[in-house]
Amino acid sequence: MQNIESYQKSFISYLEDYAVEKEPTNLYAPINYILKLGGKRLRPVLTLMSCEIFGGTTNLAMNAALSVEVFHNFSLVHDDIMDDAPLRRGKKTVHEKWDLNTGILSGDAMLILAYQLFDDYKSDMFQALVTLFSKMALEVCEGQQYDIDFETRNDVTIPEYLKMIEYKTAVLIGSAMKMGAIVAKASEADQNEIYDFGRYLGIAFQLQDDYLDAFGNPETFGKQVGGDILENKKTYLYLKTMELGSEDQTSDLLNLMANNSISGDDKIEKVKSLFNYSGASQATQNAVEDYTNRAFSVLENLNISDENKQQLRAFGAYLMNRRV
Ligand code: IPE
Ligand code: IPE
Ligand code: MG
Ligand code: MG
Ligand code: MG
Repeated sequence: MQNIESYQKSFISYLEDYAVEKEPTNLYAPINYILKLGGKRLRPVLTLMSCEIFGGTTNLAMNAALSVEVFHNFSLVHDDIMDDAPLRRGKKTVHEKWDLNTGILSGDAMLILAYQLFDDYKSDMFQALVTLFSKMALEVCEGQQYDIDFETRNDVTIPEYLKMIEYKTAVLIGSAMKMGAIVAKASEADQNEIYDFGRYLGIAFQLQDDYLDAFGNPETFGKQVGGDILENKKTYLYLKTMELGSEDQTSDLLNLMANNSISGDDKIEKVKSLFNYSGASQATQNAVEDYTNRAFSVLENLNISDENKQQLRAFGAYLMNRRV
């Protein structure tokens, strides 16, 4: 078992070799741009870690890890179009740097590249990886559609929200870990447990992402702070303000969200103070902790060493405390 940085390093060097320049430039340059823009590389690290935990070698998991990261970056290119986002990892989003059509087609190509990365796996393993991937990818699309549908709804419930983030975010993190387990030929029971661990961690991860979208430091966050507020996203912060806020606070929130004459910065500041005073910010942080703990309790059923469990817990704690 290696530490997180060493998994990151070997993954990044594999990615560097993979992302080479090709023609037509306007198809491949945006793909290389987004893939090399950085990012935390959490999902591929989880694939590699999971593979080693179940006794596999990371070499064999590299293509699966890369597939996961290429898919993730594909989803970001299209997500940034859908969310009208100007910034990603501190740089221009693909559709801003190029244009909308370029973002659509480069994204499409990335989805195909992600599948292609399974080509070298043999029969049963290939089948298991592709089946898992297809199920996951369709669920991500479903989650993304709910996310967009919720922008124009005022009756979204917390259970609906939780299902939406499970689909748009958590199933990829669960699948990243399950792929590592598949490559390591872990038992089906272990594959499913590690998937659940990743799924709970993924829910915590998206809750934290919602929190940081409002309260992240604009200098370091890398995305437009307040973007979710401007897009009328039904985040946990929003839904909890509606649930916990006083009558004045909830009517202020509804009025602010519907107000298009106020400046964006003003709107963001006012909405953020409602998130704070209603108790929604604290509730969001509590929920991050709660879902991280649910992930940790899944570890109890897993037949792996205490040292490995400790490393997975450390990873969860690192995600919970992240600021980017
Ligand atoms: C962003 O994911 C998309 C979400 C699911 C919230 P990350 O925060 O992992 O993005 P990078 O890859 O590190 O930039
Ligand atoms: C991300 O949700 C989900 C996917 C990319 C599939 P967000 O829209 O919250 O992600 P960020 O905040 O733009 O990274
Ligand atoms: Mg987005
Ligand atoms: Mg989005
Ligand atoms: Mg977000």
